[in-house]
Amino acid sequence: MEFETRRLILRPFRQEDVDLLAPLMANTDFMRFSLGAFTPEQTVAFLDKLIDWERRGLPSQFAVIHRNDNRLIGYCGFFHQQVDEMDEIEIGYRLNRDYWSRGLATEAARAVRDHGFRDLKLPRVISLIHPDNLPSRRVAEKNGMKIERKTVFRGFPTLVFAITREQWLAECAAE
Ligand SMILES: CC(C)(COP(=O)(O)OP(=O)(O)OC[C@H]1O[C@@H](n2cnc3c(N)ncnc32)[C@H](O)[C@@H]1OP(=O)(O)O)[C@@H](O)C(=O)NCCC(=O)NCCS
Repeated sequence: MEFETRRLILRPFRQEDVDLLAPLMANTDFMRFSLGAFTPEQTVAFLDKLIDWERRGLPSQFAVIHRNDNRLIGYCGFFHQQVDEMDEIEIGYRLNRDYWSRGLATEAARAVRDHGFRDLKLPRVISLIHPDNLPSRRVAEKNGMKIERKTVFRGFPTLVFAITREQWLAECAAE
C-alpha cells in the first residue's frame, strides 16, 4: 500500500533502496537516540527485515519520499516490539536532518497512525521515546499520543507513548 500526504509519499521499501538508506543510517544525527550509526551490513539486515514483514503481510516501515525533490528522506511506519513482555506495534520515524523542523515527521506519523487504525484495525499503537528526545516527544504528542508509563527498553530509560483505537475514533469525531 502506498500513501500520499500533502508533501510526502509513503511507499513500501524495496531492495534497491539500500543505496539511499545506507548513507542515512550511517549518519549519527539520523540515528540519534538509537544504537548509533549503522554499517552497510547492518542496514542491509534492517532493510531485509522490513521487506520480510511486508512480504508476510505484517505492518512494516514505509520509505518517506519528499514529493518536491523526489528524495528518499527517511522512514516512518511500524515496528514489532516486545515491551515489558508484551507484544506491541510501534510507530517509529527518522528523517534526514536537512528536513527537520518542517512538520514532516508529524505529517508522516499521522498518516501511518490513520492507516494503522483505519485499514489494519490495530487496537493500539505506541511510540518508544528516550525522555531527552524532545522533538520526537513532540511528534508523538502531535500524533495524539499520551505518555502511558516510563520503562527500560533495550537498557535505555524510555517513555511509552500510546494511543488506542477508541481514543483515535474520538479524535476523528472531534475534528
Ligand atoms: C524526531 C524527528 C523524526 C522529528 O522530525 P521533524 O520532521 O523535525 O518533526 P516535526 O517538525 O514534525 O516536529 C518536531 C517538533 O519538535 C519541536 N522541537 C524541535 N527541536 C526541539 C527541541 N530541542 N526542544 C523542544 N522541541 C523541539 C519542534 O518545534 C516541533 O514541534 P512544534 O510543531 O510544536 O513546533 C527528527 O528530529 C529525527 O529524525 N531525529 C533523529 C531520529 C529520532 O530521534 N527518531 C525518533 C526516535 S524515538
